[in-house]
Amino acid sequence: MRRACIRGTGFYVPDQIVTNDDLAERMDTSDEWIRQRSGIERRRYAPDDVGCAELAYRASLRTLEDAGLEPNAVDCIILATLSPDYYFPGSACILGQKLGLPGVPAIDIRAQCSGFLYSLSTADNFVRGGQFQCILVVGSEKHSMALEFADRGRDVTVLFGDGAGAVILGPTEENRGVLSTHLHADGSLADALWMECPGSAHPRWITREMLDEGRIYPKMEGRLVFKNALEKLPQVIMEALAENRMTLDEIDLFIFHQANLRIIEYVAKQMGIPAEKVYNNIQEYGNTTAASIPIALHEAIKKGLLREGQHVLMASFGAGFTWASAIIRW
Ligand code: UT7
Repeated sequence: MRRACIRGTGFYVPDQIVTNDDLAERMDTSDEWIRQRSGIERRRYAPDDVGCAELAYRASLRTLEDAGLEPNAVDCIILATLSPDYYFPGSACILGQKLGLPGVPAIDIRAQCSGFLYSLSTADNFVRGGQFQCILVVGSEKHSMALEFADRGRDVTVLFGDGAGAVILGPTEENRGVLSTHLHADGSLADALWMECPGSAHPRWITREMLDEGRIYPKMEGRLVFKNALEKLPQVIMEALAENRMTLDEIDLFIFHQANLRIIEYVAKQMGIPAEKVYNNIQEYGNTTAASIPIALHEAIKKGLLREGQHVLMASFGAGFTWASAIIRW
């Protein structure tokens, strides 16, 4: 039976470290508030001249090296982001150009915090169906240039960081690889977490009013998002287990989208998942949206937390709303 397996992992975060205290100098917030509410201690910000595709490029080079492959081995690029370089063309095309891969298909996926798992699912189906043999799957975000560094935006601004993470997916006939993926969306609460402007839903692309009202910045109804995450994450975890006739005990490692340590701890406690089976790094990088799962996956592997034959379950919830899960046998 042909499955898709991960042949390499990697990530890149920019050098600039921004602490909670650094943010407290720019808006009415505190290290204590940010740590208590989210678990975040610091995050990284990219320089002005480094955008989404460049972050993705740097993560991709490391991932290819990890897989022992040259860029020209890649036959498809899938890039998840909510912070693309341009409105169009997609950042996957820019990434393909940076990697020197003319003619290789390049797909942008817009599923926010679930972007990586949506991309993994797409790639898994391409590999199992036989259309592509070596897919570069990347999650990349440059949030820092679109956040509002003022009291008005403080609830959102303190949560996000820049970074990119990637995996290479290829076929295997062995009894390992992606066992299943589970994707969901519900647009009825789209405005609970969104960046409303600019956009084609408006009569004008961008107006002075939009700028003055701060509608060009991300906005979130934090408690509503929190509540929905607590409901949907356990559901999508149980769905993945049921599909594979597995129990929670058979999962060796859990990697959640790094949105808020409190959400992850609450879900783990509620479901009876031991804390030592959950890998978190939100303390270091904040919420890097589509990049957070592949960054955490790479770190967990390099720390020896995932060995051959073990199972990792990944789950996400975020803007859209979108939520998703996947189980991989390593
Ligand atoms: O990755 C996408 C998915 N995102 C998520 O899953 C995030 C889900 N939501 C959350 O993580 C939490 O709701 C937050 C961390 C965003 C906020 O935590 P909270 O406990 O829900 O706080 P809150 O929004 O209810 O605000 C509590 C208080 C308010 O003040 P009052 O009205 O009680 O006086 C806020 O104005 O905290 C205030 N506040 C802040 N204070 C200091 C909001 N942001 C800040 C801040 N610093 N940065």
